[in-house]
Amino acid sequence: MKSGEITTTPEGEQRHPWDWYVEQAWVTERLCDVVDLESDVHYLDPTCGLCTIPQVLANRGMTAFGTDIVQRTDSSLFLAEHDFLGAQMLLIERCHPLSIVMNPPFSYQDGKLVRGLAEKFVRRALQISTHKVAALLPIKWLASSGRVSLFRDFPPSIYVLAERPSMPPGDRIDQLGPRRAWKGGKVDYAWFVWDKRGPRVEHARTFWIPPRPKARAQAERRLAA
Ligand SMILES: C[S@@+](CC[C@H](N)C(=O)[O-])C[C@H]1O[C@@H](n2cnc3c(N)ncnc32)[C@H](O)[C@@H]1O
Repeated sequence: MKSGEITTTPEGEQRHPWDWYVEQAWVTERLCDVVDLESDVHYLDPTCGLCTIPQVLANRGMTAFGTDIVQRTDSSLFLAEHDFLGAQMLLIERCHPLSIVMNPPFSYQDGKLVRGLAEKFVRRALQISTHKVAALLPIKWLASSGRVSLFRDFPPSIYVLAERPSMPPGDRIDQLGPRRAWKGGKVDYAWFVWDKRGPRVEHARTFWIPPRPKARAQAERRLAA
């Protein structure tokens, strides 16, 4: 069952059962500002929600599509409902050259806690893509005994977002209203970027993405309101 109900964690926190938390377009804009994303590559966001990420990429002239376990948008960039961790593969996942840009679910699948969930998405993306994988994840994701092999075997480049993104639950944005939904988040995030065609590196490299210029941030806030 693809439930749409709120899940209450053992700590009493309310979570969306599929971890549908929406980032704003600027978060992907900032990625595009600092990482060279090739224009002759197909882009897939396999956890696309509202297709925020594919839309930003398409606006920049790239060929981008989204899939999700549940259809949450009428965007023409949305291809299909699809379980990215499932056994079946979609045609787009076999498309070469392919890069994957995503804000993956962090811990819940159909209301159940799944340990190491984001890592499963990253590993799957690394299997499928031919070029880059960019995953938006909390900075705390870096510190883990379980992920040592992932980071050591294939160190990503880490792009720390100096500005905290808002990430409201997608099904509560209307109820919250734009002011509360996009008021800024409490969690620090980074883009973790793997380049499958880049030179092998021994260590992860870290970059800082400065906050948006004030005027740009204000204009984008007004636009969202
Ligand atoms: C953090 S949200 C991404 C939000 C998205 N960027 C947006 O603009 O709405 C994670 C998304 O992953 C989807 N998801 C969760 N488990 C999935 C799975 N096994 N396969 C594909 N998508 C999944 C959720 O439905 C949710 O839309």
